[in-house]
Amino acid sequence: MANAGCGSPATILFLFLFQAALQKGAAQYPVVSQNLATDNVSVVEGEMAIISCRVKNNDDSVIQLLNPNRQTIYFRDMRPLKDARFQLVNFSENELRVSLSNVSLSDEGRYVCQLYTDPPQEAYADITVLIPPGNPIIEARDEVLSEGNETEMTCTAMSSKPAAAIRWMKGDKELPGKPKVELTYDRMYTVSSRLAFTVSKEDDGVPVVCIVDHPAVKDFQAQKYLEVQYKPEVKIVVEFPQGLTREGENLELTCQAKGKPQPQRVNWVKVDDDVPSHAVITGGDLYIENLNKSYNGTYRCVAANAVGESYDDYILYVYDSRAGEGTPRTVDHAVIGGVVAVVVFAMLCLLIVLGRYFARHKGTYFTHEAKGADDAADADTAIINAEGGHTNSDEKKEYYI
Ligand SMILES: *[C@@H]1O[C@H](CO)[C@@H](O)[C@H](O)[C@H]1NC(C)=O
Ligand SMILES: *[C@@H]1O[C@H](CO)[C@@H](O)[C@H](O)[C@H]1NC(C)=O
Ligand SMILES: *[C@@H]1O[C@H](CO)[C@@H](O)[C@H](O)[C@H]1NC(C)=O
Ligand SMILES: *[C@@H]1O[C@H](CO)[C@@H](O)[C@H](O)[C@H]1NC(C)=O
Ligand SMILES: *[C@@H]1O[C@H](CO)[C@@H](O)[C@H](O)[C@H]1NC(C)=O
Ligand SMILES: *[C@@H]1O[C@H](CO)[C@@H](O)[C@H](O)[C@H]1NC(C)=O
Repeated sequence: MANAGCGSPATILFLFLFQAALQKGAAQYPVVSQNLATDNVSVVEGEMAIISCRVKNNDDSVIQLLNPNRQTIYFRDMRPLKDARFQLVNFSENELRVSLSNVSLSDEGRYVCQLYTDPPQEAYADITVLIPPGNPIIEARDEVLSEGNETEMTCTAMSSKPAAAIRWMKGDKELPGKPKVELTYDRMYTVSSRLAFTVSKEDDGVPVVCIVDHPAVKDFQAQKYLEVQYKPEVKIVVEFPQGLTREGENLELTCQAKGKPQPQRVNWVKVDDDVPSHAVITGGDLYIENLNKSYNGTYRCVAANAVGESYDDYILYVYDSRAGEGTPRTVDHAVIGGVVAVVVFAMLCLLIVLGRYFARHKGTYFTHEAKGADDAADADTAIINAEGGHTNSDEKKEYYI
């Protein structure tokens, strides 16, 4: 017996007899026992699962492990089942530990640890097989984007168990996607998520990452760098002069334009007018010699690309050739002008106040006389009342002035 192999006919016969005897002796339903413990197992397809049956207080009872079809995988340290993927890891008085390699979906189910006591005790280990999704794939509706336009992307994780979850990141910001879960004919889940957002110029070169969360995989993601076109940003820089633009001086402006695609050229125009005929335009530079007041106006640099057109304006204001030098005199004039204005204003105010005083004095008197006449029973009373009103109006007059 001791030399007999695990699957030998002798062992099988022994097991059969032993089990028959036990079943007869303890013809009760098994009970779920506190004395027997095991754990559920989640395992990735193709990998190894470990099933451990543990006994707390062993009284030398026989222990065995059954598969979901209630066939004996291990009887003590013997394996009647021919599937060599099952191997004994440990057999001691407190544990029966068995490994199952190259797990497949058909291995899923409820495994039973059984202890031959009276009644028999059982504990259940559910094996769940996880199937990782295929590599996530990002499909973008648009290859090249334009600022301000809405775009759409879809990320798909095929055939997993259980269903995967998909998250989106744009740069370091998480964006919400719209998930869709499909159950395929082979009872696998295919999950896709749709992301829509409005593209901005800052998105250029930023990665959009589709992250797949699934218990069978780690750091599973796909990414796509955004390529965003945007219209030019235009800026006029004054190269010369640094101070006031005076008659007779020269003016030099440079136009800087940056866009994607980069604008081929920039254009100088004068708003509502022609650029002075002797102005020199080379590339982005505008050069005008010998400024003249008739050149006043708005000079505009325009740049365009496939996305659109932008411009920047420079307002030229040609000052007298002496402007700036005679500043103190200008200020004197301004101060004198101001003082004169204040004096004139003060006199006007005085005139208005005086005019109002005379007007009000008369008006008030008249009003009170009329009022007194209304209220009074006779003419005498009316006059007394009117005089009272007069006194009041005197007080009022003082208040006003
Ligand atoms: C094992 O999983 C089943 C469901 O499949 C659950 O009812 C049971 O409580 C789990 N057992 C343990 C020990 O987690
Ligand atoms: C089995 O487990 C027991 C207790 O956990 C340990 O002492 C023993 O060394 C193990 N045997 C093997 C072969 O791993
Ligand atoms: C694992 O099992 C699958 C079938 O489920 C089989 O095709 C494959 O050859 C096995 N791999 C190993 C390493 O045994
Ligand atoms: C962006 O949107 C505008 C209208 O909204 C459209 O005319 C243009 O073709 C779009 N650009 C791209 C690159 O899709
Ligand atoms: C400015 O231009 C006008 C004509 O455009 C011309 O008559 C005038 O002489 C010019 N003044 C100076 C200072 O060049
Ligand atoms: C140009 O601006 C100056 C201000 O220094 C003004 O005196 C002059 O009248 C303006 N000329 C025209 C044509 O607007």
